[in-house]
Amino acid sequence: MTRTQVGIVGAGPAGLLLAQLLHRNGIDSLVVENRRRDYVIDRVRAGVLEQGTVDLLIALGVSAGLCRAGLRHEGLHLSFGGKRHRIDLAELTGGKAITVYGQNEVVRELIDARTRTGRPLYFEADHVSVDGLDSAPVLRFEHDGAHHDVQCDFIAGCDGFHGICRPSIPEGVLTVFEREYPFGWLGVLVEAPPSSHELVYTYHERGFALFSMRSPTITRLYLQVPPDEAIGNWSDEAIWAEMLARMTTEDGWQPNVGPVLQKSVTPMRSFVAVPMRHGRLFLAGDAAHIVPPTGAKGLNLAASDVLVLAHALKSFYERGQTQCLDEYSDVCVRRVWKAQRFSWWMTSTLHRFPDDSAFDYQRQLADLDYLTSSRAAMTSLAEQYVGLPPEVSFESAGLNV
Ligand code: FAD
Ligand code: PHB
Repeated sequence: MTRTQVGIVGAGPAGLLLAQLLHRNGIDSLVVENRRRDYVIDRVRAGVLEQGTVDLLIALGVSAGLCRAGLRHEGLHLSFGGKRHRIDLAELTGGKAITVYGQNEVVRELIDARTRTGRPLYFEADHVSVDGLDSAPVLRFEHDGAHHDVQCDFIAGCDGFHGICRPSIPEGVLTVFEREYPFGWLGVLVEAPPSSHELVYTYHERGFALFSMRSPTITRLYLQVPPDEAIGNWSDEAIWAEMLARMTTEDGWQPNVGPVLQKSVTPMRSFVAVPMRHGRLFLAGDAAHIVPPTGAKGLNLAASDVLVLAHALKSFYERGQTQCLDEYSDVCVRRVWKAQRFSWWMTSTLHRFPDDSAFDYQRQLADLDYLTSSRAAMTSLAEQYVGLPPEVSFESAGLNV
């Protein structure tokens, strides 16, 4: 049996960020991931980083690519009734902005940083399981044909929505809140220069569409589709016809058309499991909560959770205090519900629901008309979109800024 202080399950953003935060505080950890390294890096997912997430990556020193290629956006557009309306995020929030940068690039740099620390990170682990959560946790897995039993002080369940940590908590402990939406997103990565410097969220009679980007040569687009839609039903031609039908505005703006590099359908759900702790197991990120992507909050919430957890673990190891560990779930869950509320609201405001009446359509247009003409309403959207203030200071989590 080997030993570590914190066993981390999952090498997504939550697990890798936590590993780096712990390393900065001299706390040992072992990260175990069931997928291949390339799969973890290549998975196309989030693109919007809140200011606080950017600041965290910079403070951790894992920001070379982000500082070089991250696209700072000081505004976004809401498009409806054939017109685009700009929301000036920076002006409404005292200079805050978001950064558009692929999650896969963030993960690539975090993996490199972890590798440089020399601390263990196992990919392609099989039969990962956790045990003894009440008092003496053990992380078990198989790697390269060898069986590993790792005695841990704590286990961080950073293994996403389909991971094994949350289901390892005994029945009856967790309360789950869940909402499924009657649609999903069809996402495409396109080889074409973005035709707008900023994101465009479109509400259209035919459904929601989103214009985003990854770099000066790559556009990222999404379409609202039925939740169980098979990607095979969508030829590239059909995707472009629908994108252009929904996104083209009266002034002739539309995305640049180009080869589709990748396409997939993601269902949408809201999910919260509380508490985010059981004994010596702490859940973080998508393992504990899922938001629909319309608010661009998932990755940012994962970053917030692990900052709070790193602070709590630091206070335990440095001063023997358990208070912050005890407060971990409550501190995170308050933020999670605010992000849930915002993501649900963005989703409801911008999507068409199957049972929408003509009345609902006009009401939603009026909602958007109000939103884009009231400074108070735009300020509320802007301050939530750029991200609420961090739950704990970087200094208290051991980062010098
Ligand atoms: P994950 O990224 O899911 O990582 C969990 C890791 O655990 C994975 O690597 C997985 O392979 C591993 N794992 C699973 N099971 C096991 C096991 N048994 N043993 C070991 N390892 C295991 N968020 C934003 O903030 N902004 C956005 O713009 C945005 N857009 C999105 C667009 C789409 C289409 C999607 C799908 C998501 C989007 N998100 C966005 C959400 C964001 O991608 C997630 O919230 C984020 O990846 C959560 O990170 P995580 O580390 O908690 O979980
Ligand atoms: C993305 O660029 O992938 C993206 C942007 C904004 C969202 C969701 C996803 O709300």
